[in-house]
Amino acid sequence: MSLPAIFQGRLSLPVIASPMFIVSTPELVIEQCKAGIVGTMPSLNAREADQFKPYLVRIKQELADYAAVNPGKPVAPYGINLIVHKTNNRLEHDLEVCVRQKVPLIITSLGASKTVIDKIHAYGGIVLHDVVNMRHARKAISEGVDGLIPVCAGAGGHAGALSPFAIVRELRTFYSGIIALSGAISDGAGVLGALAMGADFAYIGSRFIATQESGAKPEYKQMVVEANAADIIYTPLFTGVPANYLRPTIVNAGLDPENLPHREKDTMSFAEGNPRPKAWRDVWGCGQGIGTVTDIPATADLVARMAAQYAEAKKRICA
Ligand SMILES: Cc1cc2nc3c(=O)[nH]c(=O)nc-3n(C[C@H](O)[C@H](O)[C@H](O)COP(=O)(O)O)c2cc1C
Repeated sequence: MSLPAIFQGRLSLPVIASPMFIVSTPELVIEQCKAGIVGTMPSLNAREADQFKPYLVRIKQELADYAAVNPGKPVAPYGINLIVHKTNNRLEHDLEVCVRQKVPLIITSLGASKTVIDKIHAYGGIVLHDVVNMRHARKAISEGVDGLIPVCAGAGGHAGALSPFAIVRELRTFYSGIIALSGAISDGAGVLGALAMGADFAYIGSRFIATQESGAKPEYKQMVVEANAADIIYTPLFTGVPANYLRPTIVNAGLDPENLPHREKDTMSFAEGNPRPKAWRDVWGCGQGIGTVTDIPATADLVARMAAQYAEAKKRICA
């Protein structure tokens, strides 16, 4: 299928920079879009509800100003991640702001909802939905999403356990909508690999933690530079949903990564003055694809580097 009009002629690389709690700041989103990849952030990164609209207004204005003075450059559309779950008491408010601001791309997580999708479609927006298995994928398709984000083994934050080869090829036996492949993609060769498999986009998170504009603390960025795939621990312990985290932050929280308590016993394990460490704040999320990360560049430089790697990988396999 051809990509929807909002993406056409507006990308320098087929990449969606994924939304990351705390990490994805408006500055990061703006730099990603200016560099020609889709920049996104969770609505909840506006820590107060009334901050959210000003964030969107700023992103829209800075991108419009940049496009006006750089008419020949692709400036990508931006996106917002909404957590569609009963525990998110901001959903109704944030959805309403997205509708009024006509956010071009909405990424829904946890729940695929026809009501939400219809509201986005009514103004011409596009909805992609996170899935970790075929059951979730079929449900999201039946609700009317425009595309799927298979969150595969090794992805940062909440992640599935399926191989990307398995899930993308199985999806393509019956699904021709947009696929943005997620999980441990960190460079241009990985982007080309995702497309070769049948995806339309690579969906990249952890690599952008270690950039100048990310909202991660300096120690977090440095840990991503120093860590490798072996330093990533997959556990449901901290949120109830299996996710990938940086091992040193689990150790710093006083836990043994090889002998983590079971989730169902956690109230006992963490009782009495030793509260359960908080995911994202104390225990830092990260995917397995960070073995190639050796620096903390400006986002514009990182995207230019990825584009060169992508071209190089294409040349190598076509030679
Ligand atoms: C620190 C961190 C926070 C994340 N927060 C969110 C979030 O708030 N909403 C969401 O849909 N996905 C979130 N994710 C998952 C990413 O959007 C994406 O699926 C993942 O980063 C892709 O895998 P990669 O990190 O290996 O590139 C988070 C990932 C990380 C590493």
